[in-house]
Amino acid sequence: MFFSPDFAPFRPQLFTAADELRKQSLGDDVYLRGLVEFSNYCSCGCAYCGISWHNKSIQRYRMSSEEIFETVKYAFGLGFRSFVLQSGEDKFYDERTVVKILDKLKNVFDCAITLSIGEWSKESLRNFRCAGADRYLLRIETSDPDLFSRLHPDSKWDDRHRCLQDIKELGFQTGSGILIGLPGQGPESLYQDFKYLLALDPEMVGVGPFIPHPETPLKNEKCGDLDTTLTFLALLRLFLPRSFLPATTAMGSIHPEGRKLALLAGANVLMPNVSPTENRAMYELYPGKICITDDALKCHKCMESWVSKMNRRTNLGKGHIIKDSSKK
Ligand code: SAM
Ligand code: FES
Repeated sequence: MFFSPDFAPFRPQLFTAADELRKQSLGDDVYLRGLVEFSNYCSCGCAYCGISWHNKSIQRYRMSSEEIFETVKYAFGLGFRSFVLQSGEDKFYDERTVVKILDKLKNVFDCAITLSIGEWSKESLRNFRCAGADRYLLRIETSDPDLFSRLHPDSKWDDRHRCLQDIKELGFQTGSGILIGLPGQGPESLYQDFKYLLALDPEMVGVGPFIPHPETPLKNEKCGDLDTTLTFLALLRLFLPRSFLPATTAMGSIHPEGRKLALLAGANVLMPNVSPTENRAMYELYPGKICITDDALKCHKCMESWVSKMNRRTNLGKGHIIKDSSKK
């Protein structure tokens, strides 16, 4: 019922309830995670994704370990203490390389690191954890194995699910999430997604609208809508009161106020892009992606300004997520 048009008149109350619970359980801080998009090479053909191998016209780039180090160094100098390292499924960065990158960053910078680099074996994940990765982000994308297999020619739902279980077992602060508005995903499928995420009970959940990219097989499909995304987000807040929920860039890309509305419906995280400006346009997951011309300083200042106008404050700290408040 929450995802049907009949629920529309009740959405404002739902968003207010989610906002109040966010304030009670996590306070007014908006945690900033500096996003480093270090490679747009990808061996996967996810049907929705603008950096998948479907896209033959995009210019590809990879950052060297030194460039990743320098990028983190610059943002660390601006005050960032939490970073997300994200890429396509690019095995140019094999397990040893990722471990080396983590070792070096963790030795030099007192910061929290989230990896968002797709599916790996449990053994590799263990080595990333030992090298100091604090968090791991892997969206399940959809809880429906049939829909998943139609959209992901190179991966299996069971493997992705297994990978998420491994991530949890290895003690990462675990992040997952879904895409809203995928073709073939009705209200029942969204309800199953919701149940899946509650059962997984992750520390972080990212939800964003699917935005069709012209160089992918889903180019003619409809974009996911903001109201459904906000409804899903607000429900997550009510059922996972201490999880960290980002106001995603995709929400900000389909509506000028998208991220603000998300912060008013239960979200408490923003992920400003701190990647070198010259790479940003090439990490084109979908058209209309915001913040591709700014640099880390400008992004940070801009966020600080609009967040403070909402009577909230940005927090650049590590922002570790302790779900069990008795362990605080
Ligand atoms: N390779 C890693 C992975 O698959 O987890 C991380 C990179 S992947 C590009 C990050 C996220 O982008 C995906 O989990 C997906 O939900 C999102 N994404 C990709 N294409 C999108 C699109 N067209 N619209 C909205 N989000 C998209
Ligand atoms: Fe690989 Fe999207 S298909 S990152």
